[in-house]
Amino acid sequence: MCGIVGAIAERNVVPILLEGLQRLEYRGYDSAGLVVVENARLKRLRSTGRVAELMQISKGTEGNIGIAHTRWATHGIPSERNAHPHISRDLIAVVHNGIIENYESLRDGLVKAGYEFTSDTDTEVIAHLVHSHYAKGMTLLKAVQATLKELVGAYAIGVIAADNPDRLISARRGSPLLLGVGIGENFVASDVSALLPVTNRVVYLEEGDLVELDRQGYRIYDAEGNEVARPVQTSEISNESVQLGNYRHYMQKEIHEQPEAIANTLETACNSHSIMPGIFGAEAESCLSRIDGILILACGTSYHAGLVARYWLEEISGLHCTVEIASEYRYRKSVPNPNALVVVLSQSGETADTQAALSHAKSLGHVHTLAICNVPESALVRQSKLRFLTRAGPEIGVASTKAFTTQLVALFLLTLVLAKQRNHLTAESEHLHALRHLPAAVQKVLDLEPKIARLAEKFASKHHALFLGRGLHYPIALEGALKLKEISYIHAEAYPAGELKHGPLALVDKDMPVISVAPNDALLEKLKSNLHEVRARGGELYVFADADTHMNEEEGVHIMRMPEHAGYLSPILHTIPLQLLAYYVALQKGTDVDKPRNLAKSVTVE
Ligand code: G6P
Repeated sequence: MCGIVGAIAERNVVPILLEGLQRLEYRGYDSAGLVVVENARLKRLRSTGRVAELMQISKGTEGNIGIAHTRWATHGIPSERNAHPHISRDLIAVVHNGIIENYESLRDGLVKAGYEFTSDTDTEVIAHLVHSHYAKGMTLLKAVQATLKELVGAYAIGVIAADNPDRLISARRGSPLLLGVGIGENFVASDVSALLPVTNRVVYLEEGDLVELDRQGYRIYDAEGNEVARPVQTSEISNESVQLGNYRHYMQKEIHEQPEAIANTLETACNSHSIMPGIFGAEAESCLSRIDGILILACGTSYHAGLVARYWLEEISGLHCTVEIASEYRYRKSVPNPNALVVVLSQSGETADTQAALSHAKSLGHVHTLAICNVPESALVRQSKLRFLTRAGPEIGVASTKAFTTQLVALFLLTLVLAKQRNHLTAESEHLHALRHLPAAVQKVLDLEPKIARLAEKFASKHHALFLGRGLHYPIALEGALKLKEISYIHAEAYPAGELKHGPLALVDKDMPVISVAPNDALLEKLKSNLHEVRARGGELYVFADADTHMNEEEGVHIMRMPEHAGYLSPILHTIPLQLLAYYVALQKGTDVDKPRNLAKSVTVE
């Protein structure tokens, strides 16, 4: 999703801005642009292609102050005229992440005041508002502060002025932003990875903060305009750019990294013979012993991880668990249980709806909060009392894979800790043994790759697909359908198999492939009856079964046997073939696997 990089230095900042944008590419975007002050004038370059194209057209451009942006369209189609930076009367340039909700009324006022709009974006109002104040003689700092008072909505912005090459102003509310501290140069960015080539000393700006940068220093002001101090931290995120190696796509690489990602996630948690609450943070023991329920909040794939966890948490720990889509929860009038543990699940730790849901939960009186995240210094981690970091490593492919399976590992560990605290845990050592065996078990499933690649050939011509699962594996069917639609653009739906006859069966015919997750668990016989219903209507069945599931290949029934059954951890194993299936179907269809159309890796707007 949208990304910001800004720099003020003695040297030419164009390469810094471009490399920063390149490092934000994985988040998904549809256009990119930058502006620098060159000979007391704003020089802007924009492109609807990749950052590589912006690099081409930027050759020869120089400046020692500039702001840059990757845009993921919200207001206005992806086009050069809508790409950022936006400029007001050749004087003020602005980049913006987020959404200005009252932009229409602001725009009407600015048009009446004589401002000409050249884009369809909400952002352009910011440029003209800053200009309107600056033109009255305010300093750039004051002009931005006055502008921010007029904005309703979420933003992270960067602002420069053609006639003031010694000041860069940046501010945030509802969208992430950080300051990078250099020697004789300073930077801003929406994501720390953009700045790692130039500095690892960072200041995470707080909600409502504004920062004024010059080359020698910076001043931070809070929402009330008071100058404030924020700690400078040393980022521990590695600067090594993620290499593709022998893989064709990041998604394929990330699918294959799952054994290692799971092993790394387990490393600190269960090397011993028992599992301790401390893995969730210093305060976990007392905090977790006081809770009487769980509320999981997440979006997308992370939400599916939460749905799996509900089965584990209720069955193994005996705690009541609800799982909510963050964008729904944040606006729903719910009845809070302040004794519940709020678990926010997120790969990126910066999904706008999940952040807002966490704030909403806190506003309803929730004090016990846990973030399960893959990005150590992310907003959700910083805003939660307890934390668990999945150690999946950077996930570049927009469709989440290794982050999902490591989230499941973290949630299973949480289940065991809670069950143990409540004396519900039987067979702790068996559970730990199963967890330690998981990386090897996942590796065996990955060995099915060539078979799944062949299977995928049958899907490339399909327009729809139905995924079925039951119990613990129903969320895996949901995740399988999401993966397929995200990257192959085939319309896919998932249902709990028992619901088939209440509607979706009407869709089943010879053109509708039905993919079923069929582990050898207590619901297998029920599931088999549901699958007969599909066969009886001519539906083609693709069954991911365990080795000991008694089902045979026959006309219209394709069986893919999983190497072993993993008990409670079976959803983790059954996810892998569905990831591979989506990947190979997308390859057949020739889509942009790592950056599927219209989607973003980190969704930092509502
Ligand atoms: C986007 C990504 C998904 C991800 C979802 C939630 O939609 O494309 O892969 O599952 O956001 O992201 P989070 O970082 O909060 O897990």
